[in-house]
Amino acid sequence: MSTLYKGISSLALTGESFGDVLVVENAALAVADGKVLYAGPASKAPACDQEIDLGGRSVIPGFVDSHAHLIFAGERSEEFASRITGKPYAAGGIRTTVRATRAASDEELRANAEKLIAEFYASGITQFEIKSGYGLDVETELRSLKIAAEHTQHTTFLGAHVVPEGVQRADYIKSVTGEMLQAVRPYAKWIDVFCDQGAFSVEETKQILEAGIAAGLKPRLHANQIANLGVIPLAVELNCASVDHATHLTAEDIAVLSGSNTVVTLLPGAEFSTKSPYPDARRLASAGITLAIATDCNPGSSYTTSMPFCIAVAVREMGLTPEQALWAATRGGAKALRTEGGSLEVGASADFVVLDAPSHVFLSYRPGVQLVSQTYIAGRRVFERQ
Ligand code: NIG
Ligand code: FE
Repeated sequence: MSTLYKGISSLALTGESFGDVLVVENAALAVADGKVLYAGPASKAPACDQEIDLGGRSVIPGFVDSHAHLIFAGERSEEFASRITGKPYAAGGIRTTVRATRAASDEELRANAEKLIAEFYASGITQFEIKSGYGLDVETELRSLKIAAEHTQHTTFLGAHVVPEGVQRADYIKSVTGEMLQAVRPYAKWIDVFCDQGAFSVEETKQILEAGIAAGLKPRLHANQIANLGVIPLAVELNCASVDHATHLTAEDIAVLSGSNTVVTLLPGAEFSTKSPYPDARRLASAGITLAIATDCNPGSSYTTSMPFCIAVAVREMGLTPEQALWAATRGGAKALRTEGGSLEVGASADFVVLDAPSHVFLSYRPGVQLVSQTYIAGRRVFERQ
């Protein structure tokens, strides 16, 4: 069964390199067996079994959210409100969510994750990563990753989020690199460490990532959100797929990242919600660094599931062009996960978003407005705005 989506005012096609977006006007998209059969000018579209007229809306590839913490319980709105009156963000807030998460049943954790995933679909996200990191004991990290693995292949073990209450630092690191790692290993593809002030040092990060790599996991990193501990050279040396946050970078860090295989993942929701300075993404882009944009959805530093919001902030506050931001939120996310996606090339999974707007530029031009009209994964509609 093939379907032709016609009446597309503009179709944004993402290319291989950072920021490469081709906009086709008066376009059509053909889908067969869940895959893209054709994406280009309507005048050259093939005949299909059925046709759907999108009535002048625009189409973009589905967003790929490479950084999300969806397994948690509780909320931290009071902590958020205290920041607005000047209290700085600190890693210690994570322990509040750890208490709530440990106390929650599997059903509660699963229901919360599923509610957030439904929000992802409504925001145009078609592939996403899920991290653990609010269990911080063997039992709850394992429960978290089992639930994560029910919903995505992109699962990340973040036992090294902070040292939990009541445990000696050395004992905890021993567990994260030993018993806990072995327990979660069947359910985790990636290993992540929060290398920052109040979390883990560069030396500890090295030890934890190397243990994860030895166990067959692939490395990625939370780093330089609160302070720059100097971990960027290690991240590149260990071939981390991505360093995320990267709010504070030196010129040397930028030089090391450019030309490396490590993506920098921008998390605009985190700077927004923690009242922190934004990284200069334009400078990173000029240095030839591949950028991704992710939601960082979590109850502490970035409680948003809206990729359009993150795009709008990246454009307004970080200096990306609308095309660079679109690329970063689609193809960039896929590169940060070292996977396919974020593209409407022939043969790709038909993951796409219909915007109730004439072009992708409206994502940042009309901030805070629900422009996502429909979201499709492998040609199947998973969201339709009522
Ligand atoms: O990516 N920075 C570390 N982890 C999360 C926040 C966790 C929290 O505050 O609960 C982040 O921003
Ligand atoms: Fe995060």
